[in-house]
Amino acid sequence: MFTILTGAQFGDEGKGKIVDLMAENYDLVVRFQGGDNAGHTVKVADQVYKLHLIPSAFLLDSRVLIGPGTVLNPKVLLEEIDMLKKGGIEITPQKLGIDGKTSIIMPHHIELDTLRESAVSEKIGTTKRGIGFAYIDKISREEIQLFDIANEETFYSKLEDIREQKQKMLESYDNQDSKAFDVSVLDEYLAAGKVLSSYITDVSSEINDAIKKGKNVMAEGAQGSHLDVVHGTQKYVTSSSTIAGSACSNLGVGPTKVDEVIGIVKAYITRVGEGPLPTELHDDIGRKIQEQGGEFGTTTGRARRCGWFDLPLAKKAINLNGYSSLALTKLDVLTNIDPIKICVGYSFQGETYEYPPAKTSQLFECAPIYKELSGWDENLSNVNKYGDLPESAKKYVDLLENMMDVPIKYVSVGPGREQTFRKL
Ligand code: GDP
Ligand code: IMO
Ligand code: MG
Repeated sequence: MFTILTGAQFGDEGKGKIVDLMAENYDLVVRFQGGDNAGHTVKVADQVYKLHLIPSAFLLDSRVLIGPGTVLNPKVLLEEIDMLKKGGIEITPQKLGIDGKTSIIMPHHIELDTLRESAVSEKIGTTKRGIGFAYIDKISREEIQLFDIANEETFYSKLEDIREQKQKMLESYDNQDSKAFDVSVLDEYLAAGKVLSSYITDVSSEINDAIKKGKNVMAEGAQGSHLDVVHGTQKYVTSSSTIAGSACSNLGVGPTKVDEVIGIVKAYITRVGEGPLPTELHDDIGRKIQEQGGEFGTTTGRARRCGWFDLPLAKKAINLNGYSSLALTKLDVLTNIDPIKICVGYSFQGETYEYPPAKTSQLFECAPIYKELSGWDENLSNVNKYGDLPESAKKYVDLLENMMDVPIKYVSVGPGREQTFRKL
């Protein structure tokens, strides 16, 4: 079985939590795009793990893989491996495989990401992890792959080809004291390459073999559908394709192999960084959701912008991914908020719309049209059966499910594994 799981909004929907929960049924769990801009949280008992690169199934018996469509900062990966080791979790080459063709995030990518963000007037609010510039080098065929940092000769010969041009780019931002090509910095990459070379694998081949043998494989998305580089709210997006189809192309698995596509959706919506968010709340309710939901970025610590559930955006995510089911997370966060609103459409230039406009500039101008529902006061964090939810909470979930017209398989009412139950 091959399952793809993606975020249906702007990221941070709780993908890490749901992957950890589902992973006991999977032999392989694999990241297919993005890099350490992702921050996925897994909470088991009192332990909270915040990981950026290692797939969220690291606690289970599954083997975890990092596919060639991701961009990899080797230092961050080694820090994660080290952090888990200190907690008694060994990430050996038997446990983790990384595709040799994975693009490496180099110091110049990180410097350029930071410099460009400071230079432009309309900022994206990137995570400054060098993601966009690493993908630029992949597309322009100037990437350094994991294979290359594992081999000193190829590494330095590839760097020689790009060094002058990249240095000119850095200088164009008036950056005269870049450390990006210092030998001491580059040597750290070679040292990382040495360690990581034992993790190298052919991800496409591993996954296809596993599927042929009847094993279960899950592709774990990072970011969210509306941050997709092709279909999102450009320019306020990340630099990879975040939607389900991208798992097939990035992993080298044919679309005929996909059995299930699961969308993770929060009971409200959040966004980190710039870009349109039609239902954003700038009032006490927004602050309450932020506080009750702990809505602060896993990667950058930035406060996440919060808003009501946005049905037009959900409908678009459903189209982009072809979800066969959904997991609804963070329902507990809406406790003590009354009424609760759902954005069912937009008003734009005197007309009403049930689907987002394609142009980002128009989405900025859309005014949400709301349907109101009564809230509930009960703390949901100990609920473990759908039937035990307060009536108003059930009404909210049922209505969302009806309006989205995709079955909600799981409902989540807290960060812990046990705070999840099946609705189906
Ligand atoms: P991801 O990037 O999609 O994996 O999501 P993050 O881990 O960045 O952000 C989700 C946050 O919400 C994490 O701190 C999770 O522990 C937490 N979380 C996940 N599901 C729930 C839930 O149902 N209720 C509450 N209160 N927190 C949750
Ligand atoms: P997870 O996997 C939320 C956002 C950044 C910025 C934009 C571009 O945890 O859901 P980038 O550094 O990718 O070039 O930044 O994308 N962004 C995320 N927002 N969750 C994420 O990942 C994100 N990864 C990137 O805030 O607005
Ligand atoms: Mg996150």
